[in-house]
Amino acid sequence: MKKCLVMFLCVLVSLGMLFANGTQESETQKKTKIRFAVKSVGKDYELMKEASETYESLHPDIDIELVETPESSTDRLGLYLQYFEAKSSELDAVLIDVVWPGELSEHLIDLNEYGAASYTSQHFPTMVQNNIVHGKLVAMPLYTDAGVLYYRTDLLKKYGFSEPPKTWSELEHISQVVQAGERAAGNEDFWGYVWQGNAYEGLSCNALEWVYSNGGGTIMDKDGTVTINNPKAAAGLDMAANWVGTISPSGVTGFVEEDARSAFQAGNAMFMRNWPYCYSLGQSDSSAIKGKFDLTLLPTNVEGKNACTLGGWQLAVSKYSKHPQEAVDFIFYLSGKEEQKRRAIKGSYEPTIQSLYSDADIINANPFFTKLYDVFLNAVPRPSTASAPNYAQVSKIFYSYTHNVLEKQMSGADAVTAMSMDMAEYSNK
Ligand code: GLC
Repeated sequence: MKKCLVMFLCVLVSLGMLFANGTQESETQKKTKIRFAVKSVGKDYELMKEASETYESLHPDIDIELVETPESSTDRLGLYLQYFEAKSSELDAVLIDVVWPGELSEHLIDLNEYGAASYTSQHFPTMVQNNIVHGKLVAMPLYTDAGVLYYRTDLLKKYGFSEPPKTWSELEHISQVVQAGERAAGNEDFWGYVWQGNAYEGLSCNALEWVYSNGGGTIMDKDGTVTINNPKAAAGLDMAANWVGTISPSGVTGFVEEDARSAFQAGNAMFMRNWPYCYSLGQSDSSAIKGKFDLTLLPTNVEGKNACTLGGWQLAVSKYSKHPQEAVDFIFYLSGKEEQKRRAIKGSYEPTIQSLYSDADIINANPFFTKLYDVFLNAVPRPSTASAPNYAQVSKIFYSYTHNVLEKQMSGADAVTAMSMDMAEYSNK
């Protein structure tokens, strides 16, 4: 009898589960699913998850599915191209790098046809302009980015330096002193300077900063002429190669953003080159360097030529999406004021909406937004417009030879000669 009762209860529970699942399924079936390819660097994923949950609660007929993508932006581009070339409807909305509109425009819808004009006017005009390809608005700005120098304020003081370095040789000197001191004090893992040296887009950003701040130009000029083959550019690359294994770990040639951040945030580096997103993470309660660091301009060898590479991410909708209208509504929401404010406060992502730079809550969370405002607005762009739609190839040539220099397989001079020859087919002249 007891056995029968147990069996009866089991059947009831199973039936109940079946019904519950059935209801859930029919509920999701009624919803339109938007698959959105996001980044998982730093707080990116977490913030996108929160935003999509809020959006779903405001739009119960929409189900947002976040698709995680590789950490390296070069690999992320490769993944998108696989979907796009197969004309796959699997991705509806995508997060795209500031250097990709030219390359990806043929796969993206024109947001102007979906009423973007009423949203674009609040953004910095240059950031909107960057996303217009042959008259088509292919993406909405989500956040802008600029390479910056993070430094340990406590260690600067401890070793008697009054301010962060203004030139690269000052950075080298401070790195050597602090590294020797901290190692002698017992931290064997301590390094002077960490940055991104892996062979990928992030290295193009770092190397552009070394070249530009050494007076060596911007790889290509605005009209598409290749300018990289010059002694100052070569010297900029050699300068960085000398850091590898001395003030930077040998493994830096395999570092992407998060590797550098882990070392710095664990308290194992004096300086770090990275993007502003590391600020709020570094100030979090679990961080070993909370309250012990600040950020400033990257050093330069030429007065006034402090380079910070322009970065940033945009929101776009795939031409192959089966739900373009729903996907567009979602990205308009994400790129709007409320979301940008939340992202700036929680994740130190720099807004693309001009008025948010006078928002007290945002400035309070990120005092450096005000300090570096002009710098951010004048950040050095990669030659993505001049080389469109071939920027990815130009960048690959640039970072691959640069990587050879860092690995001491080539001199800076040989590398810039080779780069310029390989880039010739993408040159306008
Ligand atoms: C950051 C920048 C992006 C750049 C990438 C390189 O995400 O915002 O523009 O291409 O870093 O790793």
